[in-house]
Amino acid sequence: MTSETTTPRDRLAAPTHAEMAELFRLISGYRVSQALYVVATLGIPDLLTDGPRDSDELAQVTGMQAAALYRVLRFLAGVGIFREEAPRRFALTPLGAGLRADVPGSIRSTALMLLDEVHWTAWGQLRHSVRTGETAFAQVHGVGNFDYFARHPVTAAVFHQAMTSSTARSGGALAQAYDFAGIRRLVDVGGGHGLLLATMLQAHPTMRGVLFDRPEVVAGARPTLEEAGVANRCEIVGGDFFAAVPPDGDAYLLRQIIHDWDDARATVILANCRQAMGAHGRILVVERGMAPDLRQALPALHLDLEMLVNVGGLQRTDAEYEALFTAAGVRLSAIVPLGDAEQFSVFEGESMAPASRDPSQVWAPAGSVHTDPTGEQEQTPTGA
Ligand SMILES: C[S@@+](CC[C@H](N)C(=O)[O-])C[C@H]1O[C@@H](n2cnc3c(N)ncnc32)[C@H](O)[C@@H]1O
Repeated sequence: MTSETTTPRDRLAAPTHAEMAELFRLISGYRVSQALYVVATLGIPDLLTDGPRDSDELAQVTGMQAAALYRVLRFLAGVGIFREEAPRRFALTPLGAGLRADVPGSIRSTALMLLDEVHWTAWGQLRHSVRTGETAFAQVHGVGNFDYFARHPVTAAVFHQAMTSSTARSGGALAQAYDFAGIRRLVDVGGGHGLLLATMLQAHPTMRGVLFDRPEVVAGARPTLEEAGVANRCEIVGGDFFAAVPPDGDAYLLRQIIHDWDDARATVILANCRQAMGAHGRILVVERGMAPDLRQALPALHLDLEMLVNVGGLQRTDAEYEALFTAAGVRLSAIVPLGDAEQFSVFEGESMAPASRDPSQVWAPAGSVHTDPTGEQEQTPTGA
């Protein structure tokens, strides 16, 4: 057969046995996911911290059925999470150790967040998102992700713990890779429980911070700031970033915020930051970059589908960030890769034409809660 007569179908070689096996491994990934979820919820990796244990003993401690738990541990030994040292006796491998709750940047809370029923059932409706472009999460749970968290504090606590441990894995890289010189007041927009801001304040002893997030979220932030020894340099403000963000920051940090939202809503958040900052203010969007090689971009592509299923946002290319910034009146002034394992970059923006704020206008979004560094709290009544 000559090259003129071959069709794309001819050129597509029949899959090898190895390729078929790889496909099967990908298809059956849900078994690994759920087995990992079970051992993470039971705290089995933590129970193996001091050395190998018999599976029957682990079943007794965790209240599980011995034969069934053994089969799960054996399966995960096949995956490389445990090692069966002697018949029915398991040790934790270095790979499995990341699931211990007490290791720095532990991935346990991420496993709990991604694999619990709330998340799992939403992913079961991925096809709904593909058909409609809408979030499967709202289809399954009847409300948006963040409103669901507001009504389900236990699920929300797992989410914020997962966000905090993700910051523990990559927050240090931000402090090192980006030059914060000249930033005296840093506003962390959607800063969750505040570990990222705390990390920046620890690295810059004269910097002051403002932690901004939904009121029910910042209500849980003080212990993180106190533990980091920065609470006396940090205001805690609750509010809605679609309404307004705290004014007069030298920089507005938005880590994993913009990817949660479609272009229209992301533009509102960026425009509110631009409106709030001084003439020389900066916007620092911290997101995973999207490498042109899709295999290299895989971590970002994973997150992209998370956004599709759960919140209605997306991961963006550099050009898409630039377009978004422009729509919000912000010039993309630099892209600084953090060089961390999770492939985050800072997308730095400056105001194109500094917005003039009316200084007589007191900033107070409806329903906001403001805590100054002394811990005094003021409540702005809804509708004020
Ligand atoms: C994906 S998390 C990122 C948290 C943190 N920046 C980090 O990187 O770990 C998104 C954050 O946006 C907050 N958020 C969502 N809607 C908000 C709103 N309307 N106003 C303020 N914060 C909001 C959530 O509560 C959550 O803490």
